This record gives sequence, C-alpha cells and structure tokens, in this order.
Amino acid sequence: MAPSLRDADPALQNEMDTVTEAINKTINRLLPETDLAENHLYEAMRHGTLNGGKRLRPFLIMHSAALFNVNPARARRVAAALEFIHCYSLIHDDLPSMDNAALRRAKPTVHIQYDEATAILAGDALLTLAFEILSEPETHEDPHVRCKLIHALAKASGGHGMVGGQMLDLLAEKTEFDLGTISRLQRMKTGRLMVFACEAGAILGKAGEPQKRALGNYAHDLGLAFQVTDDILDVEADPQDTGKDTGKDTDAGKATFVSAMGKEQARDRAEMLINQAISHLKIFGNRAKMLEDLALYVLERRA
Ligand code: IPE
Ligand code: IPE
Ligand code: MG
Ligand code: MG
Ligand code: MG
Repeated sequence: MAPSLRDADPALQNEMDTVTEAINKTINRLLPETDLAENHLYEAMRHGTLNGGKRLRPFLIMHSAALFNVNPARARRVAAALEFIHCYSLIHDDLPSMDNAALRRAKPTVHIQYDEATAILAGDALLTLAFEILSEPETHEDPHVRCKLIHALAKASGGHGMVGGQMLDLLAEKTEFDLGTISRLQRMKTGRLMVFACEAGAILGKAGEPQKRALGNYAHDLGLAFQVTDDILDVEADPQDTGKDTGKDTDAGKATFVSAMGKEQARDRAEMLINQAISHLKIFGNRAKMLEDLALYVLERRA
C-alpha cells in the first residue's frame, strides 16, 4: 500500500495503490534473486527498490502515457527504469559522504543494511539496468522511440540533471546560494526526473508538441513544488511518518527554500507552483484528473 493520505481523495489513493502494486510486480520480475555468487549485490538492489516508496514517478509515467492510450505493459517498463534511477539516487544520497542517513522508507539504508561499497555498487547496477531495460524491444517496437527514451533519461539523470543538482545541493552546505540558484538546484536534483516521467508518456504515445509541452510544464512546476514540500517536511515532519531521517538539511546548514524564505513563504510558493502546474493540464480537459489530484496530494502530503 502507498502511504496513506491525510484527507485523502479515495480515488487517488486507490490509483496510487494500483500503480504501486503493478510497479512492485514489474520490479520484482526485472530484478530476480539469483543463486550466483554475486547475489549479495542483487539483494542490496532489491532492498533499495522493493521496500516501499510512494512510486510517484511511476504514477506520473502511467498517467501521462494513459493520455495517449499507450499499452500499460510498455509504460510499466519505463516506469520501472525510472524508479531504478530514482532508487539509485536515494541509495547514493544516503551514503556517509553525502547525507549520511540511516533510515529510508522506514528501513535501514542500503549502506547500513549491507556496507558502503555494496551500496555504491547497487546504485551503479541500478543506473545501468535502467538503460538496459529502455534499450530492449519489449519497451517499444520502434527503435526511434527507444532511442528517444534513452536520450531523455540520460539528460534528465546526468550532470545537467539529477546528478548536477546533487552536486549543487552539496555545495549548498557551504555556499550562500540566492533563491534563483536554489530553485535551479531543486529543479535539477528532483524536477528533472519528474519531467522525464511525463515526457516519457508523451514519447511512448508519439504525442504532438503542444501536449508534450503542456506535460513538461506541469512536471516542471510539480517537481519544484515537490522538493519545496520535501524541505518543509525535513524541518517539521516525524520520521515515523516520512520513514526517513529528518532535520538533515538544518544539521548540514544547507540552503533550501525553507532556510532562504521561512516555512510559511515556502508553503505559499509550493501552493502557487501547484496551481500553476494544474493550469498547464487544461489542454487535456478532465482526462488529466488523476495528474491534477496528484498535484494536490504533493501539496498536502505528510510523507
Ligand atoms: C525523495 O523522493 C527524494 C526527493 C527527490 C525529495 P520521494 O519522496 O519520492 O521518495 P520515495 O520514493 O517515496 O521514497
Ligand atoms: C535527494 O534530495 C534528491 C535526490 C536526487 C536523491 P534529499 O536529500 O532532500 O532527499 P531526502 O530528503 O534524503 O529523501
Ligand atoms: Mg540530499
Ligand atoms: Mg537526503
Ligand atoms: Mg530532503
């Protein structure tokens, strides 16, 4: 079950649970246990990918792909590939040399459960597995579509995307960044993978430019709002709700929206971004209702 929503919209909760169940099955199939000597690595990869998580990025892929009537089995493979990248980023984010976190998804982090070297390798293997999956014909019969997915995910994950954002995030512990730079950092470290999620639905469905742009704009605002709420939860939530260590940003003296503008203004900013995100979905009429509800959830979430 996906973590429960406070004042939950039952239809959204139900859909989040459905996506979670489907994606868990797909991940389980793509990451089987083996009896080879290196199974230790696969155990660590499974620990980092099959122990909960809200599965928001898979939700974004499944629902943006549904707008273009994409075969759900294909969308699930892309969703699993993106979730592998996300989980690898979390495994590395929790390492002692980065955020030094012991708790993730209410379980010990991978380097605590195994060891640091295994956590690094599990992250590396998940990263490469994601691209292996995208390159396979089961993901899409058209090689141009597969190439576009690989290119888009590489751009979203690399030095100009998530990894670059993580670099800025570490520098934010020692540098007084202005709001513009903090916002760029957040869009890179968190927003880019969410933009990929929505882009992927459009690529799989060979969508037209206006639809692709609308989804990209939605995800751009949603991703930033998501990181702003993550920063708010870091200062005010309970690890029992979030399943991860809190207070980490303050301890590290990290520049975030909360440190730069205070909790109240950060919340106002998140609300403004969510309203903006929803306005980009107008082009789809009520067919994008689930994406709209997900945006509201991002604002209200407690985990
Ligand atoms: C946590 O992401 C890391 C950020 C980008 C803020 P999520 O809050 O989506 O983590 P899970 O997947 O639900 O554990
Ligand atoms: C991590 O951001 C974003 C990633 C790319 C992994 P955080 O460091 O704020 O994420 P949490 O709070 O540990 O989940
Ligand atoms: Mg971090
Ligand atoms: Mg962290
Ligand atoms: Mg955080």
